This record gives sequence, C-alpha cells and structure tokens, in this order.
Amino acid sequence: MRSYSLIAPAKINLDLEIIGDRPDGYHELVMILQSIGLADQIDLYSLSTENIRIHCNHPQVPTDKSNLAYRAAELMATKFPEAFSNYGGVDITIKKQIPVAAGLAGGSTNAAAVLVGIDLLWNLGLTQSELEELGAILGSDVPFCIAGGTAIATGRGEKLSPLLPSLAPLHIVLAKYRSLEVSTPWAYKTYRQEFSSSYIRDSNSLAARANAVHSSAIVKAILQQDAAEIAQKLHNDLERVVLPAYPQVLQLRELFAAQPGVLGTMMSGSGPTVFAIAKSPEQAEAVKLSVRQAIPDEDLELFVTQTITHGIQVASTPKGEIKN
Ligand code: C5P
Repeated sequence: MRSYSLIAPAKINLDLEIIGDRPDGYHELVMILQSIGLADQIDLYSLSTENIRIHCNHPQVPTDKSNLAYRAAELMATKFPEAFSNYGGVDITIKKQIPVAAGLAGGSTNAAAVLVGIDLLWNLGLTQSELEELGAILGSDVPFCIAGGTAIATGRGEKLSPLLPSLAPLHIVLAKYRSLEVSTPWAYKTYRQEFSSSYIRDSNSLAARANAVHSSAIVKAILQQDAAEIAQKLHNDLERVVLPAYPQVLQLRELFAAQPGVLGTMMSGSGPTVFAIAKSPEQAEAVKLSVRQAIPDEDLELFVTQTITHGIQVASTPKGEIKN
C-alpha cells in the first residue's frame, strides 16, 4: 500500500495591506507571509476504489466537499485522470493542531499537503510552480503553504516572492478563543464597504505600490534579521474592521502589548488569532502563562511556537518509515 505522512505548517501575516479591488471580486493585496511551527499532520494512502475519503479528529472540520483538502484531491483527479484511474482514490486523515477559522491558513495548508502528497502517491513529478498553480485554483493562501518560509505575496496572495536568506527563528505566542470565528469573506467585504474610497484604481499605480513592498521598512528588517524592528513594523489592514467588531480580539491584543518581553503584536489574516513576537523562548512561555492567568477562560487557546523556514514536508509513511 502506498502511503505518505506530511507535516502541514500554519502561517501568520507579518504584513497584510489591501491596496485595491480586482475584477474577479477579490482584493489586490500586499502581504508578508510567514510559516510557523504549529502544524497539522496529513496521512494519505491510495484506495483501490475511485473514492476520496477524509477523516479528521476535530469535530468542526467537515469531511465532505466543503473541506478544501477534499477539493484538492478532487482537483488532482480531474487534472490527472489517467493517474487517478491507475492509482485509485485516496484516503486522507487530518490530525488537527491548527485552530480552525483562525486566520492561520489551516484549511489552505491541509489542501497544500494533499497536492504535494498526491503528486508523490501518483509519481507525477510536478514542479513547485506547477503545484503552486494548482494551489491558486483552490485558494489564495494555498500556493504559499506549499514552499512556506518567509515570502512577499501580491495579487490575490498567490504571486510569491520568497525572502532570502531565511529568517532566524522568531518566538511566537498565539491566542485564539476556540468558539470565536471570523468569516474571511465578511472581513474583506466590510473592509471594502468602509475603506474602498482609498483603493488604488489604475493598474500602473497598483503595480508600483505592490513593487514598493520590496524596499519597505519591514522587508529591510526581515533581511537584517532584526526581530525588534520586524515586531514594530507588523501591520494588518483587516484589524480596522475586525477589532471594532470583536472586542475579545482587541482585548487579547492589548494584553499581549502590555506583557514584558513582547516585541510586538498583531492579528493574523482575517483573525481572530492574535500573535505576539517575544524576545526569547523563555519570554514566550512567560507571556503565555501571564495571559492564561489574566484570562483563565478554557475557551482561550494559547500556543508557543516559532517561525520556520519551510512549508509542506514529508515526515514518514504512516507506519513510521522515514522517507528521503
Ligand atoms: O482565496 P480564499 O478562498 O482563501 O479567500 C477567502 C475569501 O477572502 C474570498 O472569498 C474573498 O471574500 C476574500 N479575499 C479577497 N481578496 C483576496 C483574498 C481573499 O477579497 N485577495
């Protein structure tokens, strides 16, 4: 039986700027995306029937077509019908660690892992850019999740420009209320309603604005590996609509900002996860403890992790045999 086990890391946004509208109804974005150690595990094996099956240990994660991982497998079956009929369907088990609907690209990274895993299962030999192109069909964050690391993302979020050399680990604390979810379409729609008068309208100016990020202060700080400066330059336009509508998110952000050892704090993606960059792993643990003491609510999930320099990785077969 052919099988693979993949590690699918979450991401945070060090920067998220909404600069314009797009004819396809999406927004023109300028983002800096960053992989973190918090990850799901995806186990895949070929089935003798032409079925796609999803299992997940998290009750909120759907196992039908509404799961992006299912749609990733379906997309591979449609694009590579010969391989699909030769190798059969696929059984996918998602071991969830990443909070769902959290602004951490949990669904996108699962879909990215399914693309990478099926490429291996079916011996397709796709290149990274071919996998990214398939990823863009599924969602704006999927292409980034494939290679991960630190990258500038423009367009819908699918045009990637990796930032090298790889960033030395930043120590991250994440906070999310389990029962609190923010709809990404709602966040973008509300932003459009409130702030579209400031959108850039002509395509040359949009291209120039997107290009300017390469020489921005935060990119310079990343290239200089200056954690304190990166933390000072964090930015997310969606905070303008999410923080007023979700006071708990604002409260977490203020609590993080008040902790000794925190260099900076920001909401990730469309939220509601808030992250803080701490000075050291010890400080990150101290921040987590202090926030837990301030909010002893069991609904609040807290994680300590760090930034990493990769996206989807093959871990082993589900039986534990290490793959090279
Ligand atoms: O691409 P994805 O499915 O992840 O996007 C989720 C939603 O976020 C879209 O339906 C859209 O409402 C919003 N979005 C946007 N502009 C982008 C990316 C996402 O408006 N560039």
